[in-house]
Amino acid sequence: MIVVAIDGTAASGKGTLARQIAKHYNFSHLDTGKIYRAVAYKVIVNNVDITNIDTIEKLALSLHSDDFTGDSLINNDVGNMASQVSKIPKVRQVLRQYQQDFPKQAQQLGFKGVVVDGRDIGSVIFPNATIKFFVDADIEIRAKRRYDELLERGDVVNYETILSDLKTRDEEDKNRLESPLIKCKDSHLIDTSHNNPQKTLSQAISEVDELI
Ligand code: C5P
Repeated sequence: MIVVAIDGTAASGKGTLARQIAKHYNFSHLDTGKIYRAVAYKVIVNNVDITNIDTIEKLALSLHSDDFTGDSLINNDVGNMASQVSKIPKVRQVLRQYQQDFPKQAQQLGFKGVVVDGRDIGSVIFPNATIKFFVDADIEIRAKRRYDELLERGDVVNYETILSDLKTRDEEDKNRLESPLIKCKDSHLIDTSHNNPQKTLSQAISEVDELI
């Protein structure tokens, strides 16, 4: 089973890249940010206090794959809350198993490979992945992309708020004790600042093709 692990900063284009690689090779794709967002969404709608670890762990245990879809997850407040719940070791532990089972499930469905994107995929979830990418871009370019994306969805958003939320989220993701966002030594770095999605995909494909 081929495992393509993609990590990177918020709004760096890693999700787009993951979807495109999956489409190109007909691999199954798992966006692990959606899983953390699904927990965060449940925390918000159930009005759970962020210090109530036992309840949040139960919410994580009760997740179903249907919870990982839907527009309600693509929301700045849900993203910020995801960053908070993702610091909780018990939550990461529950979600780790689900992520590590994904290739097995994909194989049973006939896929020859998976693409998994997130923050700790190459470092913790699949340290022996076939290939690892680390995607990053200039923070202001990322903020503009996220701003345009939310605006297009009809959300009321403010560029400065998005920029400052992204900065906070990156800092928190990089500095948390449990599974921080790091670039693994064996990761291929892709800077998408001046790329369109097609160029990013071509860069990645040329690396993947060498290995499969
Ligand atoms: O990628 P996305 O913006 O959807 O992720 C939301 C948040 O979920 C991230 O800021 C991060 O805190 C958390 N996350 C994580 N580990 C992952 C995926 C996401 O900690 N593998």
